Amino acid sequence: MSVSSESKTFYITTPIYYVNDVPHIGHAYTTIAADVVARYQRLTGKKVFFLTGTDEHGLKIEKTATSKGMTAQELVDDVVKRYIHLWQVLNISNDDFIRTSEERHHRAVHAFYARVKEHGADNIYLGHYEDWYCVPCETFWTEAQLDDGNCPECRRPAERVKEESYFFKMSAFQQRLFDFLGENEKFVRPQSKMNEILGFLRENLRDLSISRSSFSWGIPVPDDERHVIYVWFDALINYLTAAGFPDDMERFEKLWPADIHLIGKDILRFHAVYWPTFLFAANLPLPGKVFAHGWWTVEGEKMSKSLGNVVDPEVVANEFGVDAFRYFLLREVPFGLDGDFSESALKGRINSELANDLGNLLSRTVSMVKKYRQRIIPAADTNSSHYQEFAALNEEVRAEVAQAVDDLTFNKMLAAAWRLVEKCNHFIDEQAPWALAKDEAKAAELDQVLYCVLESLRLLSLYLYPVMPERTAQMAIQLGQPEPTASAGPEVFAWGGLETGVEVVKGKSLFPRLD
Ligand code: MSP
Repeated sequence: MSVSSESKTFYITTPIYYVNDVPHIGHAYTTIAADVVARYQRLTGKKVFFLTGTDEHGLKIEKTATSKGMTAQELVDDVVKRYIHLWQVLNISNDDFIRTSEERHHRAVHAFYARVKEHGADNIYLGHYEDWYCVPCETFWTEAQLDDGNCPECRRPAERVKEESYFFKMSAFQQRLFDFLGENEKFVRPQSKMNEILGFLRENLRDLSISRSSFSWGIPVPDDERHVIYVWFDALINYLTAAGFPDDMERFEKLWPADIHLIGKDILRFHAVYWPTFLFAANLPLPGKVFAHGWWTVEGEKMSKSLGNVVDPEVVANEFGVDAFRYFLLREVPFGLDGDFSESALKGRINSELANDLGNLLSRTVSMVKKYRQRIIPAADTNSSHYQEFAALNEEVRAEVAQAVDDLTFNKMLAAAWRLVEKCNHFIDEQAPWALAKDEAKAAELDQVLYCVLESLRLLSLYLYPVMPERTAQMAIQLGQPEPTASAGPEVFAWGGLETGVEVVKGKSLFPRLD
């Protein structure tokens, strides 16, 4: 399965979310981050496949459905709408939405199971599982991991369970994974998370229980209908299903392996240990990178239903604007670290960075073109020193943005774009176009000052488009430029592409100031 890197589709995923929860900013965060990467890659001309979806099986869903007098399928068909709706509200450009209750996924899990057995008859075997289980988290814990008899994650009491179960021989792949990580140092990002995984692999890996017979809402084990496949051996395979496995292997070979799995830190072990070992066993290539981001607290507190502080992304987006919310999440916290969400921090960034720095820059520039040049964008003088200076700065910004997207350091991506914003604001103050406009002899100079700022704004509409798709389209319209959705190829960020001789259009304020 060798596909040259040029022709390979860039494939990025989010976790598939449990449908039993209401979506909150933690879920929105991963999906928005993935959306930014997908939009950026498309803008630079790459083919992209961006996947999100929902994880719909398990005991908890079965129990809830029973208590509501519904079938599990009816329940998930209903609650999945929350996610589908939220992604529309947040302007998420996913190419597919996978649900684990779909037939295509059922086929994929069966084909994967068969493939794992084909490559090693004892890769899956029947045994007995006995351990502590947390129903709400759907996680098994060893005695040592429990916290006073409680689940170490949600602190609720764990139950002791013993049942017959199929096991995946994970232990057989420990050394191979260890060696792989040694050769692929960037497989897990950030580095602190790689260290965590290496530490975990220094202990002996246990074989993994991959089936349950105590409930039935799941995908049956092939040839043993008493069991359903249990959580991770079902959920992780979604990344293959959506790529066409096993129905369309030609498509699958073009898409797989995924370039990036974006996840939160709590599900790192499943993606950086379980998943690679499953893929080894099935003789399939490993994804390019697993990036684990940090968690959000709200006003300094852990988000929880009992505290009643769960932030609904739709409410925030409606109140403050979708783009401002997207911007805030990515600007506020270095991707990979934990962060705190507060309305005052959000408002602070909206007023200072979005309204003052960016929105004002656009509005005063458009006003000047209207006033001093009858709305017409002046032509460039490629020999002018201003032109050269801005072109050089743009080269730096473009490289920094590209590097930041590659490293998933979104705050750096935005900081790089802000170098242009700040440069333009200083430049206008220094050059004082209002003074140049009074002197006929300075007409050519005024043209170049306006050109450079307008061209910077056009490029900003492109650099910022992945994060703020809606507002940057507004920027482009006000600048009389094409909207930044069309994929223009790798040269999209080159200096000097401004359409001149066209009219600017004074529009509404991009980011109105908040009190
Ligand atoms: N269904 C599994 C994932 C299977 S992927 C093959 C799951 N679902 S989840 O809905 O519980 O969580 C999905 C994601 O939301 C995880 O990446 C998790 O880290 C993230 N977050 C949940 N709460 C969060 C915060 N408070 N902050 C940031 N992200 C958080 O796990």
